[in-house]
Amino acid sequence: MSKLSLLTLLMVFFVGMAQGQELKSPNGKFSMRFSLQGNGVPTYTLTYKGKQVIKPSKLGFELITKGAATASGGSDANMEQKAVNLQGSLHDNFTVTDTKTATFNETWNPVWGEVKTIRNHYNELAVTMNQKGTDRQMVVRFRLFDDGLGFRYEFPTQKNLTYFVIKEERTQFGMAGDHTAFWIPGDYDTQEYDYTTSKLSEIKGIMSKAVTNNLSQTTFSPTGVQTSLMMKSKDGLYINLHEAALIDYPAMHLNLDDKSLVFESWLTPDAIGDKGYMQAPRSTPWRTVIVSDDARDILASKMTYNLNEPSKIKDTSWIKPVKYVGVWWEMITGKSTWSYTNDYPTVQLGITDFSKAKPNGTHGANTANVKRYIDFAAKHGFDGVLVEGWNVGWEDWFGNSKDYVFDFVTPYPDFDVKGIREYAQSKGVKMIMHHETSSSVRNYERHLDKAYQFMKDNGYDAVKSGYVGDILPRGENHYSQWIVNHYQHALEKAAEYKIMVNAHEAVRPTGIARTYPNLIGNESARGTEYQSFGGSKPNHVTLIPFTRLLGGPMDYTPGIFEMDLSKLNPDNKSHVNSTLANQLALYLTLYSPLQMAADLPENYDRFPDAFQFIKDVAVDWDDSKYLEAEPGEYITVARKAKGTGQWFLGSVGGNEARTSNIKLDFLDKGKKYVATIYADAKDAHYKTNPQAYNIRKVNVTSKSKLSQFVAPGGGYAISFVEATGK
Ligand code: NOJ
Ligand code: CA
Repeated sequence: MSKLSLLTLLMVFFVGMAQGQELKSPNGKFSMRFSLQGNGVPTYTLTYKGKQVIKPSKLGFELITKGAATASGGSDANMEQKAVNLQGSLHDNFTVTDTKTATFNETWNPVWGEVKTIRNHYNELAVTMNQKGTDRQMVVRFRLFDDGLGFRYEFPTQKNLTYFVIKEERTQFGMAGDHTAFWIPGDYDTQEYDYTTSKLSEIKGIMSKAVTNNLSQTTFSPTGVQTSLMMKSKDGLYINLHEAALIDYPAMHLNLDDKSLVFESWLTPDAIGDKGYMQAPRSTPWRTVIVSDDARDILASKMTYNLNEPSKIKDTSWIKPVKYVGVWWEMITGKSTWSYTNDYPTVQLGITDFSKAKPNGTHGANTANVKRYIDFAAKHGFDGVLVEGWNVGWEDWFGNSKDYVFDFVTPYPDFDVKGIREYAQSKGVKMIMHHETSSSVRNYERHLDKAYQFMKDNGYDAVKSGYVGDILPRGENHYSQWIVNHYQHALEKAAEYKIMVNAHEAVRPTGIARTYPNLIGNESARGTEYQSFGGSKPNHVTLIPFTRLLGGPMDYTPGIFEMDLSKLNPDNKSHVNSTLANQLALYLTLYSPLQMAADLPENYDRFPDAFQFIKDVAVDWDDSKYLEAEPGEYITVARKAKGTGQWFLGSVGGNEARTSNIKLDFLDKGKKYVATIYADAKDAHYKTNPQAYNIRKVNVTSKSKLSQFVAPGGGYAISFVEATGK
C-alpha cells in the first residue's frame, strides 16, 4: 500500500471515529450523534430541525473502590486485582466494539390517563464500548423519538465489573445558549419549592432567594437544580431535561457550570456520601431530553412513560381513578388538628394511654366529623373520603428523629374504624387510608404488611403515604438509592394487596406508573398546602405541567373556594393566590386520575353553582388536546372523558391578565353543544377579588371560536353537553 493510500485510510478511520454514529428520529426532525472524543471519551450531541439542542457533551462515571475483599473472596493477589478493577473512572479510554441500530413501533393502552392509546415509536442506537487497560464494558443505549431523546447506561455481565460503587455519574447536557430556565433548587430532601424564572447564567445569583424553608432540606450547590427542568431558548426551542424509570438508583439532579452552560448529573448521595451501589448486569435510569418549538408538544409528550416497562400488574381491574374529599384542609389551615389530646408533652406508642387522655376538642378525625364528610361525598357523587389524623401518635410526630412514631393500625378513641367502615359502605363511598411515616422509613417497612392488611380488612383500597421530616435511618436523604428502593418496595407490596398508592414527599415520579399503574398519584412538588403556609406564586400551576407532571400525576389537591384562610382559622394569615375559576380549571390542566375537592364542605355549600363543575368533571380521559401553552404564563387543554365521551376544558393563566383565544375544533363535527363556561369576572384578581366569577351558557359547535378573559392568577373551565332536540 502506498504511503498516500495508507494515510487516506487512516484519515477516513479517524474522521469516522470523530464523526461517530448518527441516529435520526422517525420523523427526521431530531438528529443525535455519538462519538469518541480525544482520549476515548464518549460524547453525544443533539439537534432539532437543524438547531443545536445539546452541544458536544460527555458521558461516563467516576467510581470508588469499595468491597473488594468481599467481592473477590479469593487470594490477596485476587483482592488487589479486584481493587484495581473497581476504582477509577468510566469516562475515558474507550473504544467502540459494537454498534446496533433498531426501530420500535407499538401502541399501548394505559390503565388510566390523558389519552386512550399511546404510541411508542423510536429509532435506537446501542453503542458497546470497551475501556482500554481495565477491559470493562459499558453500553450506551440511545432512543430517539419524535418528541426527544432518551439514553441510559448498561453494564453487561463481565469479569472485570461485577460490584461497583458510583462516586458520581458524569453525564453532561451542554446547553447551546443562555436559556430562560424555570427551575427549583437542587435538594436531596425536598421538591416543595416555588419555581424561579431566570437565565441560566443568573441561577447562582438568585439561588439563596429561591431556597425557602422546608421541614427537611439539603441543598448542595449554588448552581444545582432539580429535574424535570424546563427551559426556553432565544430561538424558540422548549427543552426539558428529566429522567425515566428511576429504579434502584439515586435520583438525578443537575449542576450547572455557568461559564460553559453545561449541566452535569449530580446524583443524590446516601448516608455515607456514596451515590449508587451497582451489580452487573444493571442499567441506569434513562436520561431524557424532550424538545419542541411548540410548548404544547412538551405537555403532550408521553416519552417518559414510553421509556418505562409495560405494566407488571396483570389484573388491573381494581385500579380506578378517584375523585375524593377529605378531613384534611381543616388541619392544613389550622382550623382543626391531627392530634387528639394536649395532655402529653411526648408520646410513646404502647406506653401512652390515649383512653385516659382528655380530648383537645379540635381533633378533625372524629367519627361524627368523618361521617359528615361521608354524607357530603355521597350526596355529591364523590368516590372517596380521605381521613388524616385517625391513628395515635400525632401529638409528637416529627422533629425529634423518632423511630417508632406510628403503628398504622391503632385508631384514636374517637375514631370508630368499624362504624365508619359500615357507614361508608352503606353510602357507597370508599375510605382512603393515610399513612404518615414521618420519614421513619424502617419503622414503616416493619409495619407495612400489617398496615396494608388492616386497610383491606376495613375496606380501604387506596393509601396516601407521606414522608415529612428528615429520613430515618439518620443521614439518608429523600431521594437516595436506598429510599428510592423503599418507595418502590411500598408500591410493589401495595400491588400485592391490590392497594393504590399516592405517596407525598416521595421522589418525583419518572413514568413508573406505566409499570405499576397502582401509583395513581404523588405529591413530590409544591402542592396546594403551601397556599396555607404563606402562599405560592400565582403562575406556579402553569409550570407544574411542564416539569413535575411529565413523570406522572400529582395529588395537587385543588378546589379551594375560600382564599382568605383567616376565615377558617383567625391565626392563619395566608391567602390562596388563585381565583375561584382558576381552581376549577386545575381539574383539567393538572392531569391526575386522583383528584381532590380539597376545601371544606361548608365552603362548597356557599357556591353550589361553581361546585357543580367539580361534581361534573371527569378524572379519566380518552383524549386530550393542548390548545394553548407557554410555561409560566398559560395552559389551555380540552379533554374527552372516558366512557361518556363528554368534553371538558380548562385554562389557567399566570401573574398577568390575558385573553385566551381558542377554536373549539376538537368537538365532534356536526354536533351541537351547550357549553357552560365558568370564568373570572372582569374585576377578578387572585389577591384582591378571587371569588368574582360568572357562569354562562353558550351554544357551540366545532366551528365556534372563543375569546375569554382570564384575570391575574385566574382561569376558566368549560363543560360541554351535547344539545338535545333540534
Ligand atoms: C404533608 C402532606 O403533603 C400533607 O398532605 C399531609 O397532610 C401532611 N404531610 C401530614 O401527613
Ligand atoms: Ca407535602
